[in-house]
Amino acid sequence: MSCGIGHVQEAQVKAEELRSQINYYDYLYYAKDAPEVSDAEYDELMRRLRAIEEHYPELIAPDSPTQRVPAVKIEAFATVEHREPMLSLANAFNFHELEAWYKRAAKMAGTEKFRFVCEPKIDGLAVALVYENGRFVQGATRGDGLHGENISENLRTIRSIPMQLQGKDYPERFEVRGEVYMPKSAFEAMNNERAERGEPLFMNPRNAAAGSVRQKDVKLTASRKLDIWIYQLGWADGDSPPTHSATLEWLNGLGLRVNPEIKRFEKLDDVQAFYKTWEERRHGLEYEIDGMVVKIDDKSVWDELGYVGREPRWAIAYKFAPIQATTKLIRIAINVGRTGSLNPYAILEPVRVGGVIVKQATLHNEDDIRRKDIREGDTVIVQRAGDVIPQVVGPVVSKRTGNPRKYKLPKKCPVCKSEAVRPEGEAMSYCTNISCPAQMFRWITHFVYAMDIDGLGEQWVWNLLDRGLIEDPADVYFLTMEQLVALDRMGEKLATKILANIEASKQMNLNRLLSALGIRHVGGEIALVLANHFQTLEAIANASEEEIAEVEGIGPKIAASVYAYFHDRQKMAIIDKLKKAGVNMEQRQPKRIEGPLSGQTFVFTGTLGVMPRGKAEALVTRLGADATGSVTRKVTYVVAGADPGSKLAKAGSYGIPVLDEDGFLAMMREHGELE
Ligand code: IVH
Repeated sequence: MSCGIGHVQEAQVKAEELRSQINYYDYLYYAKDAPEVSDAEYDELMRRLRAIEEHYPELIAPDSPTQRVPAVKIEAFATVEHREPMLSLANAFNFHELEAWYKRAAKMAGTEKFRFVCEPKIDGLAVALVYENGRFVQGATRGDGLHGENISENLRTIRSIPMQLQGKDYPERFEVRGEVYMPKSAFEAMNNERAERGEPLFMNPRNAAAGSVRQKDVKLTASRKLDIWIYQLGWADGDSPPTHSATLEWLNGLGLRVNPEIKRFEKLDDVQAFYKTWEERRHGLEYEIDGMVVKIDDKSVWDELGYVGREPRWAIAYKFAPIQATTKLIRIAINVGRTGSLNPYAILEPVRVGGVIVKQATLHNEDDIRRKDIREGDTVIVQRAGDVIPQVVGPVVSKRTGNPRKYKLPKKCPVCKSEAVRPEGEAMSYCTNISCPAQMFRWITHFVYAMDIDGLGEQWVWNLLDRGLIEDPADVYFLTMEQLVALDRMGEKLATKILANIEASKQMNLNRLLSALGIRHVGGEIALVLANHFQTLEAIANASEEEIAEVEGIGPKIAASVYAYFHDRQKMAIIDKLKKAGVNMEQRQPKRIEGPLSGQTFVFTGTLGVMPRGKAEALVTRLGADATGSVTRKVTYVVAGADPGSKLAKAGSYGIPVLDEDGFLAMMREHGELE
């Protein structure tokens, strides 16, 4: 017989063995985050178990790992009564409020000596899971705190909820509580798919999780990639550890997924410091948190402190400044990017979000606006996440008045009035006039920045364009002393410095020139890939689209854009001018220098105030370090200037030390590189 299935008794033993193996590997994977088998080995165990169960359907146990998704739909969710009410938490919004909470608790308990457990406050949906003799028997929503809905079938589909606990160290019946959530990446992927099918989008991961878990068609829940963190023991028929931290450790040992970021502290100041680090680090997490939950560790204190209404006195939610707010979208305006892209953005009635006043927010592109159905005059939700540019999440349709028109991107460039076109397969429309002043201005300022021409700020670029002294980036190389000093408020000293920097920029490596050229989809990292592969600008310009696409790391979209750029007559005329000016067009391999920073890797992000990024990179290279563009675990330091963007969050999530500019300059001084 195939798959070695023999007698029913033998099969039963084998099935039990497979189930317990699978359960154990689930435990290692989900509860311990320390997988021991490959996906393929795991899948093989599942396949063998399925084969037995297909052959002997009478052996199928309801909590078998193969039975997570039932075939039938749920008619209605039954109501369950919570044996202990599911409470909520009081909030603190600043240190002062946290301290007031602590002082009240200390006074009531007659001691100031507490240990605190600090936990990420997961932004999802609270559930209660009941285990009987180690088996999952019921899962319910919080509902009104006293009664919830029985969503056991839906919760079974969440792979990180064990159907069978590990070991034997559990009471006969007990309940744990936790938060079901949807990881950010799953949320984005799901919304993208929904958009493609023209379905309405979920506003945030929490709504998505709540909507997914209460599906009567359990297959839908199963398709939604939900996960859970367990943060509390609800009740237990039997003993449990005397402290909350020990309880969480115990639950984790039973196979329940407990957040590894949870920490214990003895001083409130340390709680505060921990909270502060999370204000930034939260953005690098795979799930959304809206604060920290601070709990007193000693459970005997819990009984002493009791409750106020529905809120325990022994715990508090220490919330982050809200990152979302609603306001009125006055108008949708367009800004023309350096590649000619028409970038729609929202002009808003000023609103405070996450401690900052926001007046403008990005709207990404036309499709995004139409998909979310954002219209001028709408009340909209605005979001700020860390250092990311504020964005409009969506309209509050219930507050829409009148019947505003659906948004349409203009067909003409709002600056030069030339035709705008949207290339096939692209999300953005582009102004077709390469001499469009808005486009040129952005391109030249970008060029100047990328080529490290220090001193030639936006104001000067604008002035030079205005006077017709430059028309494109290459003209910068033909500026003279007389022309510069003739500008209002430009002294000889500054002019000399600018001219020296222009001269020095001719020696920039090819990758820097490539990113300065403003080729659509070619940023710093792609430019480096192209430069390293082709070595000369000429080789890139002569390459076929296929040859470009064959380069590792270059997709067809980038290849098409690079190819088109070097087959545009106007662009090639500018490149010719650059050549005539003596700008380097080759990739020179920097000699690796041995120095005090050998073996270290630096990433620079954001705008440095004192030193241009290129110079900073050159400095660390001179000391033996590498400077790269992307944050990986190998990076030693991230140096963050103003508006650092997502790299900072990534550094936070990897625990890479971040230096600000002062810290970086101090380090360079230590190595004798600066006075
Ligand atoms: S403890 C009595 N811990 O926040 C203690 N709750 O605002 C009750 N939440 O209903 C909850 N993360 O849905 C606790 N680490 C955490 C939490 C957490 C998220 C949610 C939970 C609760 C709500 C209260």
